[in-house]
Amino acid sequence: MSDGLAPRLAAARVLDAVLHRGRSLKAEFASALPALDDPRDRALVEAICFAVLRERVRYAAALEAWVSKPLGKRDDPLRALLYAGFAQLEALRLPAHAALDATVEAARAMGRPHQAGMVNALLRRAQREGVPAADPALTWPDWLRERVRRDWPNDADAILAASAVAAPLWLRVNRRRGDRDAYAQRLREVGIAFDAATALPIALPDAIRLDASLAVRDLPDFDAGAVSVQDGAAQAVADALALAPSIILPHARVLDACAAPGGKAAHLLEREPTLRLTALDIDARRLRRTRETLARVDAGVEAVVALHAADAADLPAWWGTESQTGEPFDAVLIDAPCSATGIVRRQPDILLHRRPSDLDALVATQARLLDALWPTLAPGGVLLYATCSILREENAGQIDAFLARTPDAVVEPLPETFGRVDGPGRQRLPGDDGMDGFFYARLRKAIA
Ligand SMILES: C[S@@+](CC[C@H](N)C(=O)[O-])C[C@H]1O[C@@H](n2cnc3c(N)ncnc32)[C@H](O)[C@@H]1O
Repeated sequence: MSDGLAPRLAAARVLDAVLHRGRSLKAEFASALPALDDPRDRALVEAICFAVLRERVRYAAALEAWVSKPLGKRDDPLRALLYAGFAQLEALRLPAHAALDATVEAARAMGRPHQAGMVNALLRRAQREGVPAADPALTWPDWLRERVRRDWPNDADAILAASAVAAPLWLRVNRRRGDRDAYAQRLREVGIAFDAATALPIALPDAIRLDASLAVRDLPDFDAGAVSVQDGAAQAVADALALAPSIILPHARVLDACAAPGGKAAHLLEREPTLRLTALDIDARRLRRTRETLARVDAGVEAVVALHAADAADLPAWWGTESQTGEPFDAVLIDAPCSATGIVRRQPDILLHRRPSDLDALVATQARLLDALWPTLAPGGVLLYATCSILREENAGQIDAFLARTPDAVVEPLPETFGRVDGPGRQRLPGDDGMDGFFYARLRKAIA
């Protein structure tokens, strides 16, 4: 590893941007991480930032209690550095001397030599006394926590607790490169501990859950596309389409309406390489990542894959264009844009950035996508609606409303392996079977 200064500075910069300037963690990582040559430094920055975002309420309370004069706005970068220091000492359990020395040095490098003594004193206190406990529920904005409590009165505490811990690493084995047992054997050979999902009370035929997180480059044949990282709940989307009577059939015409960055599209093509798949996404940059995802797993070689950067709800923009003949689809997947409240453990900055008005806009977009895409589905075909949300207005409420205005849509109940029944679909709550929070509803179009 480097001298340890660069990752501390990078973590403080990322955290300052996310905590104090409304920036997204993903975007900040995307610009900060490539500047670090050593993969261990990149992993350290990620671990520090995740830990701080999960514990920020506790760290803020400790800092407020421990400084005689509250830190002002100008000290935001220093506050971020101090939180990073706390995280190294306790969440990451790094050797105290390394965490302390590097953080104090980072304060100097940030042009704050006059505050280096204070940084040192505060970190020593954290090391000595530990950072006092705080209620993890307080990391949620009041309005969002209240919606979770309203929707899940008996599960809300468990949801908040599960959202505050790091997620396990789930792998999806690429069937085209060998089966899960063969990959599990590879893991055994290189000494990576795992829990094949067959050991769980769920049916995820391609999934392996690792006991401890690791860098993807350490996974055997990752670059060769043998395996991808994808939560079990997200893998279940392909399973929901493959339920009997399966839609994942040779040469079936499938629309993945919100496809980027391509995780579920790749999974579908790994399952059935001859699909005729149309993948849309409104975000052209994210759609480029879909191309990379499909190339890595070598999907789309036999399939006919069409990628379009378009608003899926704007049919004239893509359906009936040269490559799309206006021919209806056998299956439509709407992996809808949503509040992402089911994946707070993976994207803890959601809790900093979500506003009630975002939610209203997302609910409206989901309804627009459902209404606009239903006519693209062939009679007898299946529409699968999925979100990584745990809010009823995006899930059961959204689909109930759609059913009320769509007489030829018929619910096909999903089995209990998809979580608890919620109205017309199934809901998995964060942490259920070690998975993300996810909602699924499978709708068939009646044949007139
Ligand atoms: C949950 S993500 C999709 C994840 C993807 N299915 C996967 O498995 O990798 C939702 C996606 O919907 C896209 N999106 C949002 N509004 C859209 C619209 N009106 N039309 C098409 N895509 C849209 C977003 O850009 C985002 O990439």
